[in-house]
Amino acid sequence: MHHLTSEEINTYCARFSSPEDDLLHELNRQTHLRTELPIMLSGHLQGRVLSMISFMIKPQYILEIGTFTGYSALCLAEGLQPTGKLISIDSNEETTALAKQFIAKKPNPTIELLLGNASDIIPDLPYQFDLVFIDADKPNYERYFDLVFDKVKPGGFILADNVLFHGDVLHPERAGKNAKAMHSYNQKMTSDNRIEHVLLPLRDGIMISRKKP
Ligand SMILES: C[S@@+](CC[C@H](N)C(=O)[O-])C[C@H]1O[C@@H](n2cnc3c(N)ncnc32)[C@H](O)[C@@H]1O
Repeated sequence: MHHLTSEEINTYCARFSSPEDDLLHELNRQTHLRTELPIMLSGHLQGRVLSMISFMIKPQYILEIGTFTGYSALCLAEGLQPTGKLISIDSNEETTALAKQFIAKKPNPTIELLLGNASDIIPDLPYQFDLVFIDADKPNYERYFDLVFDKVKPGGFILADNVLFHGDVLHPERAGKNAKAMHSYNQKMTSDNRIEHVLLPLRDGIMISRKKP
């Protein structure tokens, strides 16, 4: 991952943040050993940020779009209410199988993994979410935002990962389709007066949007 902050600062921040627990540490390791793009995993520092955000919100229902090997799902689930539930969607069978293995090691079955195309699955989800984490195919972020918006509680949050796309959003005219899509998503947030939003320059950029009550 090309970090937007220096490697030194990043290492320092990770060093002075709570460590990964044993399960997350092992999942991080196995993801690097067994998948082709381990770079997609949120990792230690971003994982701790997602966990902390979840503890602050104390959500009943969380939706994640883009499970990969389950790292961010486990982090986000940490702040769930005791009766709460996290639903995570991914279209990749192999990485979902790895996610399932690791999630099964958690004592409470509060994480449900759904296999399939997110655009097909989201419309049928029977929940009102306190927190949504968008982290799947970049060209569809705007669609996911639109599909999920009515299923977010007033005052609820929609997080989107990689919105700086290695900094390429600074020059969208000569950027690839993913960075263009991220720039367009950022513009969309800026023109939507139903939300408040802040772009955090953490790792590859996280947009936090809050649905106004
Ligand atoms: C960046 S990874 C997710 C990383 C994970 N959230 C984490 O932080 O560890 C993106 C995932 O989105 C999934 N994906 C891509 N297109 C999708 C689609 N149309 N529907 C569902 N999942 C999709 C990919 O299979 C991949 O596992």
